[in-house]
This record gives sequence, structure tokens and C-alpha cells, in this order.
Amino acid sequence: MVSSSIVLRQCRLIGSDADDLADIAIAQGKITAIAPQLPDRAPTEIDVAGQLVSPPFVESHIHLDSVLTVGQPRWNRSGTLFEGIEIWRDRKQNISLEDVKERAIAALKQQAQQGVLFVRTHADVSESSLTALKALLEVRDAVKDWLALQVVAFPQDGVYTSPDNEELLEESLRLGADAVGGIPHYELTREDGVRSLQRIFALAEKYDRLIDIHCDEIDDDQSRFLEVVVAQAVKTGMGEKVTASHTTAFASYNNAYALKLMGFLRRTQINFIANPLINITLQGRTDTYPKRRGVTRVKELWQAGQNVSLGHDCIQDPWYSLGTGNMLEVAWMAVHVCQMTGTDEIDACYDMVTGHGAQTLNLGDRYGLTVGRPANLIVLEASDRYDAIRRRPAVRTVIAQGQILAQTQPALTQWLLAGDRPASTVGIITDSKGVRPPRLD
Ligand code: FE2
Repeated sequence: MVSSSIVLRQCRLIGSDADDLADIAIAQGKITAIAPQLPDRAPTEIDVAGQLVSPPFVESHIHLDSVLTVGQPRWNRSGTLFEGIEIWRDRKQNISLEDVKERAIAALKQQAQQGVLFVRTHADVSESSLTALKALLEVRDAVKDWLALQVVAFPQDGVYTSPDNEELLEESLRLGADAVGGIPHYELTREDGVRSLQRIFALAEKYDRLIDIHCDEIDDDQSRFLEVVVAQAVKTGMGEKVTASHTTAFASYNNAYALKLMGFLRRTQINFIANPLINITLQGRTDTYPKRRGVTRVKELWQAGQNVSLGHDCIQDPWYSLGTGNMLEVAWMAVHVCQMTGTDEIDACYDMVTGHGAQTLNLGDRYGLTVGRPANLIVLEASDRYDAIRRRPAVRTVIAQGQILAQTQPALTQWLLAGDRPASTVGIITDSKGVRPPRLD
């Protein structure tokens, strides 16, 4: 029997009841046992003291080639998509392999220390040098001991908008991209958009890759490429390998059409990704009032049983100057803009940045708090999913592939008024016995 290298004591496993504290043993990078009061002894023992232990966060949609460029060469003064595109056109002139790698790894470290250990990034493959793609493939290798990165070949300018783009997309797959991307609503015509999707599915089948389409990221209620993605998924049987990202136009469709589309969706298990931080800020810009939210029908898709996950899309780039890489902020925003404030709905938003994200990335048995699986887990200073989203507390410990990757000391408030007590809802919410406060349901 292999001896444990780490044992975590008194873990409140996500989804369990307050009394079900368990120990977790780790050896050779894997979870080897989960049970109350394990007899195992290990060189590293962590007293979790009743805090929440969760599988790591999954970032299912980010553009690492543009992260951390805010203000270069200038700030986006209007905050609009179009000014962002102009700024990025200028910033792209200075892009290099080292530039992309340095920023991408910095952003991944920011995310990993906050519990994100699985990431899907898009790489713009519209440039003939394929610099962004090559850099991110190198990053995938550089971080592989502590984070799993998937790279999507993303034809930012469209597949058929210039003669070289189609070949650049295929070359990206030959170079090793994990997934084929697309942007059908940005092709010159509806017909080109449909043709681009047919080509993307054919390439995915030829090279055995996943698919992740920037689909209908526009407020135009006539942008209807999601139905084409669904049709292709039904015809090819590739459902679970296919993801429709953004689908913001879905929020603008009339209900008669949306309900028909929901019916078609049941025929295939494609994944959806919403990016609430970005969708709420970039969409609806041409509206006066009422002003649309521009976020896809997250609640209805979730209620219909479709797999929905959430992503940042941007962290400090020309389109979004904010962002810290914290997935709880993404989930928190989804709770609000998607009106997911019901008890189960809040829990579902947590799932959308953990297990549902893992499903989108097709992680299978590489993910989850189960004996025999890789030891990737996080300790959150929270009592349950609701509490984690409400307070967005620090991730105290991050364990990646059986190694302690990062530890964070949370902020500590001292209440100095003599003879008085601090507010009980602020700060640490479990006592030494792991007792959590009553849940508001
Ligand atoms: Fe995106």
C-alpha cells in the first residue's frame, strides 16, 4: 500500500450535510481515500476545520492572448466593443511570442492561486504568423504540471473574410490546437457563416478535436447561427464535443422562435458558455431604454437540462479593463444578471464554474472529488456553495496534481470598540467544530 503524502482533515465536501466531515488522503498525485477520521498519517497534514472542499474552478472561456494589456497603447475611453477592436488592432502590431507567454502565464497564476486549475483559452489565428497560437501552445506545456490548458484555434476575423484564413485555421490544428473555433456572425454573409460552420465541423472530425464557436455574440435578433450549430451537432453526433459560446442573440429572439430552438436543443447535448461580466457590459450598447441585458438564456437552458458553464472572456484587456481572475466573481455576476437568485439557482451558478465547466471541457474522470482521480482540489473559507457565492471568500489552499500549489491568508478584521462584538456575518463563518450558520431557506 502506498503511503499518503497529504491528508486533509475535517473537510466539508461540497454538496454534503453539515455533519458529514471527512478526511481526504492523497498519494502519488491521486486521491486515495475519502472517509471520516482516516487512520492514514502523512508528512503533510492540513486541518481544514470544517471549511468547504471543492473540486477546482474551471475557466471555460478566456482570451489569454489579449489579457493584461489594458492601457496599451491607450485606454478604452468609451468602453465599447468597437473602440476595443481599434485599440487591439494597434496593440497587435507589437505582439510577440514572449509578450503573449509572459502575460498568459501571469494571468494563469492569478487564476490558479484563486483555485482555477482547468482553463480553455481562445487564440486568435487570423494573423499569418500564428504567434498567439504558438505562444499559447508553449504556455500549455509550460504550466502542465499545475494547470491543464486547452487552446482553441479562433479565427477572430472569420474563416472566409480573406483568402488565407481557412488554411491558417487548419494549420493551427496541425500545430496542436485542442479545439476548432469560429465566428459565423462575423462572416461577410449569412451563407458564408453557414459554410464556415460546415467547414469547422469537418475539420473537427478530420483532426478529432473539440469545437467551441463564438456564436451569435451580437444583439441582432436575426443572428441565428445557433440553429446551424445544433443542426451540425445532430447530423454529426458530435454533441458533447461541441460548445456554443456567448449566444447573446438568444436573449433577443422572440419566444416563439426561442422555444422552437429549445426543442431542437434537446436532440443534442451541446454545451453553452455565458460570459456575464462581458456580455452585460458590451451588449445592449445600441439600445436606449428598455436596455437589454445581452446575456444568453442561462436560466432556461439550465432548467432544460443543457450543460451551461461560465467564463471571464477578458481580464484587463481593450474590451474590459476590470477582472481579477476570480471565478466566484463570474458566478456572482451570473446570479444577478440571469436572475438566478433562487436557492437551487445560486448553487447552480457555483456548479457552472466547477463541474459544468469540466463537462464543457470534456474532462471526464480527470475531474472531481473521487477516489482514484487526480488530486486537484481547493479549500474555501465557506460553509457551502451559497455562502461561497455570497461572500466570495479567499481560496485558502489550492492542491494541484497532489501538490500544494498556493495558500492564501484571508483578510482579518479586528473590531476595536470596547465591550462590543463584531457583526457575525463578516469574516470566518465556521467555528472550530465546523458548525455553519443556518441557511436562509
Ligand atoms: Fe470570447
